[in-house]
Amino acid sequence: METRVDEIAERIYRLSTFLPAVGPSGFTFNQFLVDAEEPLLFHCGQRALFPAVSQAVARVMDLRRLRWIAFSHIEADECGALGEWLAAAPSATVTHGAIGCAIWLNDQAPRPPRALANGEVLDLGGRRVQRLDTPHVPHCWDAGLLHEEVTGTLFCSDLFTHVGDPPALTDGDILGPAMAAEAQFGYTAVTPATGATIRRLAKLGPRTLAVMHGSSFTGEAAPVLETLARFYDDLLQKGAVSRS
Ligand SMILES: [Fe+2]
Ligand SMILES: [Fe+2]
Repeated sequence: METRVDEIAERIYRLSTFLPAVGPSGFTFNQFLVDAEEPLLFHCGQRALFPAVSQAVARVMDLRRLRWIAFSHIEADECGALGEWLAAAPSATVTHGAIGCAIWLNDQAPRPPRALANGEVLDLGGRRVQRLDTPHVPHCWDAGLLHEEVTGTLFCSDLFTHVGDPPALTDGDILGPAMAAEAQFGYTAVTPATGATIRRLAKLGPRTLAVMHGSSFTGEAAPVLETLARFYDDLLQKGAVSRS
């Protein structure tokens, strides 16, 4: 198992491990490292991935410099290796939204978490990440995303999930593959709030979408997010019709 490293925006690194046995055509598990005065890791990966992913981080910087660990929601690929990361990085603090701290981290984290309010900004020194609560988007009550303001990078978690081992970064179509994966797996908790939540993300005007499974996207991302929002609105509408 090998984790590749690609810089997808200035000093923002994608750590990607392709597992060929997952799903019909393999699946990437991606973490993101924001290199700043206080470096931040977004997603921990599963515990089984920790040796490969931590070696990849060590190719970029000394692991012990890691100051913050964040993730979107409580699932093995998002935060399974949290304990391993906190042990390897003694100065690191895990940070999450208020709900996630209340329902999980306050009880389970090896060290106390730092709760971030919706809209709160964490100044990393040279990079600034804003926490955005997105309950149930893509899934889980505690879900939230981070937007890095200096590079305009939105850390999307499972939004835009697609299969295979595509390039690290593309300015091409990620919507088609994401819609196909949604039809295949049904991983998003589609509610009347899904479209509105994604439109709120579009208003940030991100220039890079850091995607957890598949290629990251570079370019004008607001229209891409707006189209995704419409896709989920339509899906909800179709579900309502098919149930009536
Ligand atoms: Fe997930
Ligand atoms: Fe995921």
